Amino acid sequence: MKKLTIQDIQDWAGKRALVREDFNVPLNDSLDITDDTRIREALPTLDYLTSRGAKVVIMSHLGRPKGKPSAEFSLGPVAKRLQELLPETKIVANTQSVSEEFEQIAQAIEAMPNGSILLLENMRFEPGEEKNDPELAQKLARFGDVYVNDAFGTAHRAHASTEGVAHHLKPKVAGLLMEREIKALSETLSSSEPLTAVIGGSKISTKITVLENLLDKVTHLVIGGGMLFTFLKAQGKPVGNSLVEDDYVAMAKTLLTKGGSKIVLAEDIVVADGFKADAKHQVVSADAIPDGWMGLDIGPKSIQRLTDILSESPVVLWNGPLGVFEFPAFEQGTRQVAETLAVCTESGKTRSILGGGDTVAAIEQFGIDPKRYTHVSTGGGASLEFLEGKTLPGIAVLDEATAPVH
Ligand code: 3PG
Repeated sequence: MKKLTIQDIQDWAGKRALVREDFNVPLNDSLDITDDTRIREALPTLDYLTSRGAKVVIMSHLGRPKGKPSAEFSLGPVAKRLQELLPETKIVANTQSVSEEFEQIAQAIEAMPNGSILLLENMRFEPGEEKNDPELAQKLARFGDVYVNDAFGTAHRAHASTEGVAHHLKPKVAGLLMEREIKALSETLSSSEPLTAVIGGSKISTKITVLENLLDKVTHLVIGGGMLFTFLKAQGKPVGNSLVEDDYVAMAKTLLTKGGSKIVLAEDIVVADGFKADAKHQVVSADAIPDGWMGLDIGPKSIQRLTDILSESPVVLWNGPLGVFEFPAFEQGTRQVAETLAVCTESGKTRSILGGGDTVAAIEQFGIDPKRYTHVSTGGGASLEFLEGKTLPGIAVLDEATAPVH
């Protein structure tokens, strides 16, 4: 499923590149960006296009404004940050409604100097965006000659700016970030070397399809986080007050039978007498969680086993924390995986592919430089759906690498 990319187009000078980015970045109450990773990861694409004289028109969303303009979801802070990161590039932020002020925006794009950027206001201010309204898609298409989707993080959404618009433009190609994400994740899923997947997170309901899809592809499937306890219950073990999704116990049982020794569950657990940072806690065997206690992290024996597995795995996919890493008393499982993987990657032993918002938040909390891993995905929901084996609409719509380039 190799896609055409911006590098397959020979002459960008004067061409209008209509680029979808995922600038859905976190903001604090003063509307300052608290993590600009997604903006920085878009720079190679923007740099590539502007340095070749393209007129770059960027579309993005931010938050969930539900089809109505609101200052709190404006892309203004993103425009400011982008200009700081690209000081040499002329960047104009459009503050008008794309559908209502269409002609003015189209004229502004015509008048843009080659090599400059126009950032359109939040696409989700448009009522037609999330409905993938064909009329909005058609309008947006008039802003570009070539469609570029670089927004891997939003590729699981079939919206007007991520999917609909692409049907009206040719060629439609991947940006460099999109290309990198697809390559890293698809190479992992089709790895000819033994693959270890470490899947954590609180709920089995959000990860069950990922676990099912990975089972045939892995040598080890390590299950941690809150969903571990649904598996322990499926094995008939007492789980005390731990988080369990009863509706999924049967599915967990089926997965355990199918996976056999591939599935690695914790052998000891850090249990607490409540869900709070200063809860009383102790380490117990995974088959002896006492009544009234809840599991909040994996224990030292499990961490050692996991470290041994990771140290011998040439390819590791990690998605989701192993415990409640937000509380220092219950961060060890997640911290040790993060550190071991960084060390193994640096020594050249392991290719590590990380994904998921909580995983990224954890490495940030531990102060680990994401560059120490082979690839850290910018996608949360998108990377999960990719790992489920789903076709992401924002990728499916792009031209295959075999398509003729115009
Ligand atoms: C994300 O942050 O996962 C993407 O930007 C998609 O956002 P959404 O879940 O609001 O569609």
